[in-house]
Amino acid sequence: MRTSVGQPVRLVDYRVPDFLIDEVDLDVSLDRTATRVVSTLIIRPNPAASDGAALTLDGDELTLVSAHLDGAPLDPEAFQATPAQFVLPNPPRGRFTLTIETRLDPASNTKLMGLYRSGSAYCTQCEAEGFRRITYFLDRPDVLSTYRVRIEADREEAPVLLGNGNLEGKGEAETAGRHWALWTDPHKKPCYLFALVAGDLAHISDAFVTASGRKVDLAIFTEHGREERARYAMEALKRAMAWDEKAYGREYDLDVFNIVAVSDFNMGAMENKGLNVFNDKYVLASQETATDDDYANIEGVIAHEYFHNWTGNRITCRDWFQLCLKEGLTVFRDQEFSADMRSRPVKRISEVRGLRAAQFPEDAGPLAHNVRPEVYSEISNFYTATVYQKGAEVVRMLKRLVGDEAFRAGMDAYFHRYDGQAATVEQFVGCFAEVSGRDLDRFMRWYRQAGTPKVTVRTAHDPAARTYRLEIAQSLAPTPGQPTKLPATMPLALGLVDPEGGDLPLVSADASEAELASGVFVLDDAERVIVFRDVARRPALSFLRGFSAPVTVDDDLTEQDLAVLSRHDPDHFNRWQALQSLVTRVLLRGVKAIRAGRAPERNAALVAAFGALIDDARAGRIDPAFAALSLALPTEADIAREIGENVDPDAIYAARKSLRGALGRKHGDALADLHDWLADARPFSPDAESAGRRALRNIALALYADGNIIDGLARAHRQLRDADNMTERFGALTQIVLKPSSAREHTSDAFSRRYAMEPLILDKWFALQAHIPERETLDRVRGLMSHRAFSMSNPNRVRALIGGFTGNHTQFNRPDGEGYAFLEEIVVGLDPTNPQVAARLLTAMRSWRSLEEIRRGHAEAMLRRIAVLPSLSPDVRDIVTRSLG
Ligand code: ARG
Ligand code: ZN
Repeated sequence: MRTSVGQPVRLVDYRVPDFLIDEVDLDVSLDRTATRVVSTLIIRPNPAASDGAALTLDGDELTLVSAHLDGAPLDPEAFQATPAQFVLPNPPRGRFTLTIETRLDPASNTKLMGLYRSGSAYCTQCEAEGFRRITYFLDRPDVLSTYRVRIEADREEAPVLLGNGNLEGKGEAETAGRHWALWTDPHKKPCYLFALVAGDLAHISDAFVTASGRKVDLAIFTEHGREERARYAMEALKRAMAWDEKAYGREYDLDVFNIVAVSDFNMGAMENKGLNVFNDKYVLASQETATDDDYANIEGVIAHEYFHNWTGNRITCRDWFQLCLKEGLTVFRDQEFSADMRSRPVKRISEVRGLRAAQFPEDAGPLAHNVRPEVYSEISNFYTATVYQKGAEVVRMLKRLVGDEAFRAGMDAYFHRYDGQAATVEQFVGCFAEVSGRDLDRFMRWYRQAGTPKVTVRTAHDPAARTYRLEIAQSLAPTPGQPTKLPATMPLALGLVDPEGGDLPLVSADASEAELASGVFVLDDAERVIVFRDVARRPALSFLRGFSAPVTVDDDLTEQDLAVLSRHDPDHFNRWQALQSLVTRVLLRGVKAIRAGRAPERNAALVAAFGALIDDARAGRIDPAFAALSLALPTEADIAREIGENVDPDAIYAARKSLRGALGRKHGDALADLHDWLADARPFSPDAESAGRRALRNIALALYADGNIIDGLARAHRQLRDADNMTERFGALTQIVLKPSSAREHTSDAFSRRYAMEPLILDKWFALQAHIPERETLDRVRGLMSHRAFSMSNPNRVRALIGGFTGNHTQFNRPDGEGYAFLEEIVVGLDPTNPQVAARLLTAMRSWRSLEEIRRGHAEAMLRRIAVLPSLSPDVRDIVTRSLG
């Protein structure tokens, strides 16, 4: 095990590899505890490197059996092998063949990196540095090879043998009861895209014909008995394949595309060439088992991994610093796909909610890092919201800046120029600079500066001169290692909304024709002033429409402006944002009042805005999904982020609870009516429209129950009983479990018994229990760790229960520090077996400095206790060190 942190890796130190590996021939003979891997590599010195270097291959916990050079056994003097390295000090000058045999124990691979067992199957995860746990290799993404892989296994144990690329042949092995399959992948790829799967799996199949007429056989493999639940994923896959042809002109490039769902997986899914491996929660769905969010996530993740075939596989990353080149871009692509499949504004609102919940706190705390980092000690810790979600926002801005046409032309240029290569962010952005003629140097700062910029906007209306003046400024606070920051180019979409609603025409001498026509203004510098003309009456400024840049906004809008925008803004994102801003202001004052020992205010304007929204929803005047998002109050974490420092989670909870109660009581009748009206008699369908109605029904129930606890719970019990789908059933259960009542335990237990054989449903149930905002929850969570369905070795269970608890704002942040002590226990206990998941759990501490003094003290003490432990994994060591830094 690599127990010490190696030297940090730095972007400035990048050197091309000294050797290239043109061909890889793998012979893998699978066995639970003694798998044999014979790897034959065709290697040559890299003409682009200086010659004479030793050949150093990476390894990780490897056991060498034998080594041959050009067919002859290697003299033990001629090489050195440790579990972490294979060194040939004097390799041949030209092309040579190196054959290395290693022995692996997949059954005891608990890290779920390299070759491991999930259930009764063998599977692999190689990104980022897992291939070196299978065989010694140049484990870096700029070494691209063709692969030929023979997989042998016991026929009964593993009738299904899958590899990358196309199936070349199969047959009986020499050893009785064993069989083999030979897979070849004609496309050169880095080793992180290698995969194999073997096991007794069921599957469903389908086919897709590409635009140029290639017939692709599609299959999704699952545990026996679950295969029908992959139907939705299969349909999503075909939609994604068609969309990539239409939106980007990208076709699939092999004859087969296989997806395997496994239940033990560290992350979401993996884009291995022609053989995607998925966490089963992003594949399996049925009316009975999946919520609408599950369906949406499956559609998004299936598309994401499929889209990687071009953005990631055909064009890969030169080094891991460029991770956002494939991840940010591919998230952007999957977001656009989902927006086209569903409601675009609703999708945008969900994205921004997700970005603010996961990425903003990262950017505001000690773990802040660039979208394209410049140093890392453990790359697994950089599969972050910053690289993924902010990375996607950066691509979205790029598109806004250059326009739709130039964006497509830039993408075409990128695919054309770098196909088959390992590229950099500079090369990617360079394509857009070239096709658009735009200077993108200052735009590159989005990749090179951490932190969320703050955009300040001040407005002044002059009725006599009929002018409306905007003063816009951007600033960025220091982040770890970056004391000074520079302004970055950002697109600011805006409009001036008339008091009666509707946009005023934009007339100004301070902006280009294109800006005035599109409403997208470019901020290149620290400041910009725009004076609009012919503005007779003071408008409400609709700023940062569609969330056109990933920034926070400091504006001077009045609550009256926000009320107008929340009803009339033609931009739906900002219509939603206006109400959220209004609620946030009221909640921030509420928190202050509570901390000062006063009662929070009653805000009539806000109550009226919610009333109008409920009426609009009931009358069918607004999209139900949009209404559902609007009725959802900012979360406790949202409010904590707005407060920023000296945060008291209990005061936030109290203020939010008081407002929820007031809204639920004031609008009780209307909410009950809405809830009844949304009961759907039609047969279930997971489409976006139906999902929107269910989302609205659940939020109507929640708000109603917040203000009318007894009747609300009665309604929840009726909904639970009558529901024919998991979204409504779980929405009802949520109210019953989160609110204290005598029926709570009984109902909750009945639910868990009903789904005793459904781990993915029990995950929701674990997470729900962990979210109860009561002092007893920590003990409840401890108790649930002994539930028969819980296991510390399954990442989904751990994330549901423990990760769920860290998202319980009041209970994880208990003033006595017991929540942190519990996390410490879990992280330290899990670290030796699964460091990746342990490290990820510990990132729950990322906002510790913003807490009030007492909690901050407990949090820091907890991190310091972990930091002094002698044998931490590099993963946890890295997170704890940076968290304290
Ligand atoms: N490339 C995968 C994706 O599509 C993520 C894999 C990361 N896994 C890991 N163990 N680091 O997002
Ligand atoms: Zn990805």
